[in-house]
Amino acid sequence: MRDIETKEDIDELVKLFYDKLFEDDLLKEIFENTVRDHLDKHIDLVSQFWDSILLDIFEYKNNVIEKHISADRLFTLKKREFDRWLLLWKASVDELFKGEKAELAKSRAASIADLMLYKLEFIRKTVQ
Ligand code: HEM
Repeated sequence: MRDIETKEDIDELVKLFYDKLFEDDLLKEIFENTVRDHLDKHIDLVSQFWDSILLDIFEYKNNVIEKHISADRLFTLKKREFDRWLLLWKASVDELFKGEKAELAKSRAASIADLMLYKLEFIRKTVQ
């Protein structure tokens, strides 16, 4: 099994991950209601985000945390949701790739998820 090396590898990974999200009993409702109507555009942005982390290709310009503050207002995102999201991300990586970048994809996702959850909980507590 090979490691993640190209933008095409990341596109493949993100697509597999979204197939899993849309089949997941806990998360599918969130994604059906937020990204289904612009799924291709969304997948492009998520792929760009991972290109910047894994391949040093810096096309992604948005603020990823802000996007989740908006999502959190519609569907409160708690540890349970983040744990499931991470489980599916890790399963997608392991299904397709093995190596240093594959490990980085999983460890970075875990630390970003931790930070996001912390920020969302903080905002929920402090902003009415
Ligand atoms: C419970 C976990 C999560 C849920 C339910 C979730 C859900 C969402 C939603 C609803 C959007 C907005 C889509 C839109 O309106 O266009 C989004 C965008 C995005 N998410 Fe997540 N997300 C989660 C965790 C994460 C994590 C941990 C990461 C990164 C490691 C991540 C990366 C992204 C990226 C890159 C975007 C695109 C933002 C943009 O439009 O520029 N998500 N997510």
